[in-house]
Parts: sequence; structure tokens; C-alpha cells
Amino acid sequence: MTILEKVNLCVGEIRKKTDFVPKVALILGSGLGNYANNIKIEAEISYKDIPGFPVSTVPGHDGRFIFGYVGETPVVCMKGRVHYYEGYPISDVVLPVRCMKMLGAEVLFLTNASGGINYDFSAGDLMLITDQVSIFAPNPLIGPNIDEFGVRFPDMSQVYRKELCKIIKDTAAENNIDLKEGVYCQLTGPSFESPAEIKMLRTMGVSAVGMSTVVEAIAANHMGMKICGVSCISNLAAGMTDNPLSHKEVQEAADKAALKFELLVTKSIEKFNNI
Ligand code: HPA
Repeated sequence: MTILEKVNLCVGEIRKKTDFVPKVALILGSGLGNYANNIKIEAEISYKDIPGFPVSTVPGHDGRFIFGYVGETPVVCMKGRVHYYEGYPISDVVLPVRCMKMLGAEVLFLTNASGGINYDFSAGDLMLITDQVSIFAPNPLIGPNIDEFGVRFPDMSQVYRKELCKIIKDTAAENNIDLKEGVYCQLTGPSFESPAEIKMLRTMGVSAVGMSTVVEAIAANHMGMKICGVSCISNLAAGMTDNPLSHKEVQEAADKAALKFELLVTKSIEKFNNI
């Protein structure tokens, strides 16, 4: 089966269960696990009920699509995503994003938890993603180009759209939320980085590091989606404190930032209905 056939098959399965047409696709990272409470839910579909669809194996990453409204904005929300380190081929990792575009979503709102590399970041900060470094993650567009999705050599000069970034920045200011800004880099994981790797990334101009998001943004950009992203700095990156890193620490810090994260995402998405 080709990648295009698989995407079409999954979209067909979803369409058997709901005819909801989203405008915004939202991927929930750590810390936004309870975000569904902010959605007026119209339909829910477990990934496991979509044949061929990748299912997350990480504790704390529930797996389902939630369709509904945030304010007036029709949204499809992914509660749980799969990561490359789980062993899925990269085409499966980006399959959900491609499906959401095929379902009608024009805007992609990416969220994640990440390690802060900037010295003036603290655990619990939120960071607007202004650009990304993808060179350490496999490019999901490698292989025959899928012309139905986009061109062979997509421009990447404004992946995170200025107009969406401005809305998120204004929304943060209106709600007294301190919002940092920076470049996000995806490494494959699952091991956290070494201090030497963090030093290298800092030298390269990277502000935050994680194990998701960048490949999804590449696939979405290929298909012409308007993309934005916010990262929850769940910890300072390796070597910046004396503490070893743990998944538990990442989850706890992300949970602590959840309220302001939810507020920022909700108020921004409400405004996205007008773009
Ligand atoms: N490194 C990579 N991924 C992460 C981190 C980190 O420090 N924190 C949360 N996700």
C-alpha cells in the first residue's frame, strides 16, 4: 500500500464515523492531556478503531481524535501522538497530520513539552515556536514525492506563520501570560540529550529541544497548512542543572503549567476562526 493509499484509507474510516469538518488541527503534548475539557465535543474516535493508524505506546499519551468546537472554531484535536522513537516508520508518525488536513483542517496548532536550552528559561515557561531545526530528525518527505500533497522541494522560509504567531503573542499579553520565543529542535530520542549535545544545540541557535513536532510541521507545510506552535519548557536541558532528567519530572512540570497553557491555546484558537 502506498502512503497516499494509507492516508486515504484512514480518512475513509474516520469519515464512516463523523462528517465533522475541522478548521484547526490541534496536537496536544504533555501538559495538555486534559484539554478536551475545553472542547464542546461532537465526536470522538480512538486511534485503535482506525485500521492501520499508529497507536502511542508512551504512558500518559492517550490516543484519540476529539472533534468539536473551541469557541466557534471547529477543531480536530489529537489527544496523544506517536513518536519516531516508538519504532514507527516516519510516514506513520506524520500520517495523522496528513489525515487531519484531508479532513479539512487548514491550520495546525502544535504543542509539546521540551527541554529549555536558553539560559533565561525556567521549568514551566511557555515558548512560542518561531522556527525549527530539523536536521537531526528523519525528513518525512524522503521517498517518491506525493504530488497530491505538495511539491518535491517545499519552501520552509516561514513554517510558523507570522500572522498566527502575532495572534498567540497578543493573546498571551492580553491574559498576562509570560510567553518566551525561540527555535525548537527535534532529536529522535528516546534517550535525553547529553550535556555536550545541548551545548552544540545552543551554539546552533536552538532554544528548546524535544522529540516531536518538527516532522509533523514538515509534512503539514508540504500540504500548505498554516502552522503555529507552543512548547511547554518542562525542564532545563541536560547539564544545565545538577539533576538527572526523567519522564516523571517532564510530566509534573507540564501539568503545573497546564492552566496557562490551556488558556493560551483556547483564546488563540477562538481567534483563529477569523483568519
Ligand atoms: N529533551 C528532549 N525532550 C524533552 C525534554 C528534554 O530535555 N524535556 C521534555 N521533552
